[in-house]
Amino acid sequence: MTGQERPLLERAHAKINLYLHVVGRRDDGYHRLDSLAVFAGAHDVLTAEPAQALSLGLTGPFAAGLRDEDTAANLVMRAARLLQAEAGHGAGAAIRLEKTLPIASGIGGGSADAAAALRLLRRLWNADGVDEARLAGLAATLGADVPVCLPQRAARMGGIGEELRPAPVLPDCFMVLVNCGVAVSTPAVFRARAPGFRAPADLPAGWTDLGAMADDLTRLANDLEPAAMALCPPIVEVLAAIVAQSGCRLARMSGSGATCFGLFTAEHEALDAARALARPGWWVWGGPLAGT
Ligand code: C5P
Repeated sequence: MTGQERPLLERAHAKINLYLHVVGRRDDGYHRLDSLAVFAGAHDVLTAEPAQALSLGLTGPFAAGLRDEDTAANLVMRAARLLQAEAGHGAGAAIRLEKTLPIASGIGGGSADAAAALRLLRRLWNADGVDEARLAGLAATLGADVPVCLPQRAARMGGIGEELRPAPVLPDCFMVLVNCGVAVSTPAVFRARAPGFRAPADLPAGWTDLGAMADDLTRLANDLEPAAMALCPPIVEVLAAIVAQSGCRLARMSGSGATCFGLFTAEHEALDAARALARPGWWVWGGPLAGT
């Protein structure tokens, strides 16, 4: 195979909600959110090559769970079919998904995979006529978290997740991610949530250091954390383990869980924490943010 024939590749990064306020509920049952989303260096990988039909091959440590649950795999194939129809494209694609992010874990892995599939196949099919706005429209039909995963840049999420505004300027920081190995159902967490709504957060234009950002974020919350903890008690243990790590400035659950994150000023602190947090059955990652 020559260099030019190499499959096209896109990374699908983990989306982390630094805080998440439930601010209302639509008539269709979807919840209105206010959230600050960032992206971690941790990622799945999608590749695609020209083919007559659409196909999806799964590899990686979490591929087996996907074959059982099928959600993210379906999302990738749904994204491919949507773009095919939108672009009026007759050809297919041989897609491969290397699944390294845990499934149903609050870090938007399936949404990131779907968004990466849209970006990847637009390139493969030279579907330049499908501009950013149309691509964002397709993303929104695939799921509430898919639009923010298209640009993979830190963003303030509103609406049910699809209304995106620029994030405040973020300080340099490093992250650990810990998942206890229990899949958590997003609809179940929303259903189990205590009733009531919160106001959207009042954020500054930016933070120059992690200490200032952590102080502000500490006053905010992930409103889904108590319900997720009730459904998945190991989250309590995970958060306590992250907080105990030297240099941890903030520990919180992302999305509807169960993955929790810790924020650190220095890379060596995050990497040391990731090493110290390793346990059988836990997925642990440490490193920088992506796309800020
Ligand atoms: O849009 P997505 O398929 O990711 O959402 C999964 C489920 O999570 C929805 O069916 C809904 O029950 C819940 N959800 C919600 N409000 C949101 C996002 C998701 O109630 N903003």
